[in-house]
Amino acid sequence: MDSTGISFTALFTGHVWYENGMSARFFTSPKARLLHSAAQPVEKAGRRLLGITVEDMLLQRHHIIDHRIDTLVKQEGVTQILEIACGYSPRGYKLSRKYPQLKYVEADLPHMALRKRTLLQQHRGFGPDHQVIGCDVFADGKPYGLDYIMKEVLDSSRPTLIITEGLVNYFRLEDISQVWKRIAHLGQAFPKAWYITDLVPKPAQRWKPVMNAATSMLSMATRASVNLHFNGNAQIEQGLRQCGFSQVTVFRPEQFRDVLPIPLANTSSPTKSIVRVVECQIHPQ
Ligand SMILES: C[S@@+](CC[C@H](N)C(=O)[O-])C[C@H]1O[C@@H](n2cnc3c(N)ncnc32)[C@H](O)[C@@H]1O
Repeated sequence: MDSTGISFTALFTGHVWYENGMSARFFTSPKARLLHSAAQPVEKAGRRLLGITVEDMLLQRHHIIDHRIDTLVKQEGVTQILEIACGYSPRGYKLSRKYPQLKYVEADLPHMALRKRTLLQQHRGFGPDHQVIGCDVFADGKPYGLDYIMKEVLDSSRPTLIITEGLVNYFRLEDISQVWKRIAHLGQAFPKAWYITDLVPKPAQRWKPVMNAATSMLSMATRASVNLHFNGNAQIEQGLRQCGFSQVTVFRPEQFRDVLPIPLANTSSPTKSIVRVVECQIHPQ
């Protein structure tokens, strides 16, 4: 499956992380700034109509994932992270410094991985045990398949966390489920393992027209099949359990109101957050 059309969206998210003080300047670029500026009229309309913007939703997921990573490292002893579809995410750069014992593997389509590797090399951004490798979640075997990466690149003796952020809604449920099954199966090789992803479920009836318009536009721009897979938390939990994960926990931004600096919809707006962060535990065989 050719999903290279999705890669440009990483410019936008990478700029959002930088603009909000979460990333280093070298992860953004004039092109990314331009894309971000071009989106501002839509963002303003979103703020006026829904009380929330795309940028707010990106910040919600990124803050919650960061928070859960910290918890898993500090409380569950995670010492290895595979960040799939890393784009210009600053996590490898920041976390491999914050936790020098961490083995951090960033992975993305080969052309994106090359760009990120070059940036990190140019800016002395690599941490002590940190690498960026090519990966295609739909590939098999060496060098880009998840089977090769999780068996040969990762260290099977370490408690491990696998992350995808901003990826899963770009694919049909039957396709992304194959990836989830693979992660759940391959994750059993580690003494303890978790998988964290963000996702957007199907919206309540009243927001369907807005969401349908947004997903159609994103599908066209990325040449991908943007999909909202689940109706609510129970279906999310069931869907991921069916792929082989256990203990599926669904987080919503409102839960972190007093814990994290995340933007929430104006209280006067009826919009409840639509972003979810899903954390799944993988039990060893
Ligand atoms: C929306 S960006 C998210 C980037 C980053 N995770 C973030 O949140 O800033 C989506 C990323 O998915 C990557 N991607 C697309 N198809 C992929 C695939 N088949 N395998 C691995 N990564 C893929 C793109 O190259 C891009 O970097």
